[in-house]
Amino acid sequence: MFGRVAPRYDLLNRLLSGRVDVYWRNRLTKAVRSTLSQPQARVLDLCCGTGDVALALERERMRLCGPVARPVIASDFCRPMLDGAQRKLRTATGLLEADAMRFPLPDASVDLITVAFGFRNLANYSAALEEFARLLAPNGRVAILEFSQPTLPGFAQVFDLYFKQVLPRIGNAVSGAGDAYSYLQRSVDRFLTPEELGVAMQRAGLRDVFFERLTFGVSCLHVARRP
Ligand SMILES: C[S@@+](CC[C@H](N)C(=O)[O-])C[C@H]1O[C@@H](n2cnc3c(N)ncnc32)[C@H](O)[C@@H]1O
Repeated sequence: MFGRVAPRYDLLNRLLSGRVDVYWRNRLTKAVRSTLSQPQARVLDLCCGTGDVALALERERMRLCGPVARPVIASDFCRPMLDGAQRKLRTATGLLEADAMRFPLPDASVDLITVAFGFRNLANYSAALEEFARLLAPNGRVAILEFSQPTLPGFAQVFDLYFKQVLPRIGNAVSGAGDAYSYLQRSVDRFLTPEELGVAMQRAGLRDVFFERLTFGVSCLHVARRP
């Protein structure tokens, strides 16, 4: 499914979110600036898709540290998505085709993990969080940006109508990828609430968990630290 979506993925992100997705990814980048400002920090963007988060991380790192910064590693298990990422990212960026649930790096080998709009798709949330905790070095951080469900009365109803009736129709038609954008809507519907994800992160051994709802709760950013 992700392979079929890849050619029009960026276009649909901008179109369906009215470019708010760019703001969300930048918000994530700002939230982890203290790690990005360390030139030797090992940064891993999982479920990187066509590389927009990795690109935002690279730019912020370049701004903070200059070219001495260690390149970001961007990873996804879908080759067509990685091909899209390759066209955007600087040649130094490490691209790795791998499953985020069983990542081929040793324990404690990463200082920052980011996952934007990919976590919801993983088969087992607890196992995925344990895998992230395994990969993180002590004091390493993980930042998860994901869709959520707005709760603000009035806005929630209008958004629900857009998300369930309008978005899947446009997404399915423009992507030409069957009912991929109906899947998006269903997967957000059954995803954890921000509070539940916070608890799952704690259970996986992560600490200092905090979350911030973005754009009236349409998406949510969680950040946590491995002790
Ligand atoms: C909705 S896209 C998000 C892409 C990108 N992070 C962004 O912000 O636009 C979700 C991505 O997660 C990837 N993905 C889903 N499950 C995965 C897994 N188990 N391991 C690696 N990548 C996975 C898909 O291939 C897809 O590229």
